[in-house]
Amino acid sequence: MSQGTEMHICLGSSCFSRGNKDVVIFIRDYLKRNHLEDKIVFKGARCMGHCSNGPNLWINDEIIEGVTITRIEGILEKELSKYK
Ligand code: FES
Repeated sequence: MSQGTEMHICLGSSCFSRGNKDVVIFIRDYLKRNHLEDKIVFKGARCMGHCSNGPNLWINDEIIEGVTITRIEGILEKELSKYK
């Protein structure tokens, strides 16, 4: 049985200094609000090697760069719409 889609946020130091902490809080809240917690497995990840363009998020087999607090909602709407 499928465990759901995985979404990983980089928790490396460069992405941290670019604000991934606020993005993590937003994503957790978004998953809860949209009842997606059982469909999306959200985890922290080690450095993805794209440090200068972070914060970085890995989902649907691609790395999305520049995941800032201002962009995150739009990204989640697009990437997770099929799970709603
Ligand atoms: S610290 Fe996030 S990609 Fe390197």
